[in-house]
Amino acid sequence: MKAMIYEKYGNPSEVMHMVDLPKPEPKADEVLVKVMASSITFSDAAMAYGKPVAVRLATGGAIKPKQLLLGKDIAGIVEAVGAEVSDIKVGDEVFADIYECGLKGYAEYVAVPEKWLVSKPANISFEEAAAAPESAVVALQGLRNLGKIQAGMDVLVVGASGGIGTYAVQIAKAFGAQVTAVCSGRNVELVRSIGADKVLDYTRENFLSGEKQYDIILATAGFYKLADYQKALKPSGTLVVTGGSMRQIFAAMIFGSLRTRDTQQTMTSLSMHPNADDLRQIKVWFDEGKIISVIDSVFPLNELGNAMEHYATRHARGKVVIKVAQE
Ligand SMILES: NC(=O)c1ccc[n+]([C@@H]2O[C@H](COP(=O)([O-])OP(=O)(O)OC[C@H]3O[C@@H](n4cnc5c(N)ncnc54)[C@H](OP(=O)(O)O)[C@@H]3O)[C@@H](O)[C@H]2O)c1
Repeated sequence: MKAMIYEKYGNPSEVMHMVDLPKPEPKADEVLVKVMASSITFSDAAMAYGKPVAVRLATGGAIKPKQLLLGKDIAGIVEAVGAEVSDIKVGDEVFADIYECGLKGYAEYVAVPEKWLVSKPANISFEEAAAAPESAVVALQGLRNLGKIQAGMDVLVVGASGGIGTYAVQIAKAFGAQVTAVCSGRNVELVRSIGADKVLDYTRENFLSGEKQYDIILATAGFYKLADYQKALKPSGTLVVTGGSMRQIFAAMIFGSLRTRDTQQTMTSLSMHPNADDLRQIKVWFDEGKIISVIDSVFPLNELGNAMEHYATRHARGKVVIKVAQE
């Protein structure tokens, strides 16, 4: 089977190359998936670049990568099932975040334990399905697990035009929140079209002045000071940092609780964990037409490196997707 691998860290367009690998054999509890589409996640791009360096340490490849085949999010068709697989059958359409079972989605086939696979929403394409597993679940876990989102809350999504932000706007609306979205001028119409009640252009407005305060601020992009976020939080509001610059993430992680210790506010950061039940909830919202995937661009598998470099500009509008096989 065709697969894109890398053997050294660097610019993905220089280090990612196509090889032929043996088609995996599913073990008893595994399902062999023909990968129709995958997408670029932060982890995949970070592992390809070998930056930030913490990624190298976390994956055990300090000097050169240990895991040569990446690809965290997949959507595809079941080609074969192991002897102990009970609920999934050949021909089923599935999607998944396969981080916990070893990535490997940038290839024509992958063997995945049954427990990670979720039935693909029938009303969306494989590209739209492959866009969702990590980004939509980050948005869900940030808003629900840490933000404790409830209907009627005021929610601010910073980075609303990005991979996570486009899902966050729609998921917050699905919970019945009032959503203010922050993006640059070129993305205002896009973000409004996916349901934001109000859209602010971060290049022109100081959206953290405190003039308007929020129950939840979900920060997915950029760098803003904790002191500024705090001004824009209601007295019992919660800041959830899911992304942006490392400085922003570490500030929330290290100083968030210190800064809010004499208040009812919370400032925290999310460490996302893949969760098939959460992805099943995302499927329900796709089925109900409450969310869509916003696709920035679709690259063929042999242009994986270019796709990663495009993602790494941090200015994609929605998700960067990889088309692996033809239907
Ligand atoms: N917490 C977790 O467990 C977890 C898991 C996965 C990923 N992440 C994090 O998530 C981040 C990546 O998320 P993503 O893939 O959604 O990002 P992304 O798609 O790269 O976000 C790009 C978007 O952010 C917007 N943006 C850039 N600078 C901004 C600013 N200063 N203010 C507001 N918006 C701005 C861009 O819009 P313009 O072009 O208009 O500027 C663009 O639409 C990374 O930081 C990663 O660490 C966290």
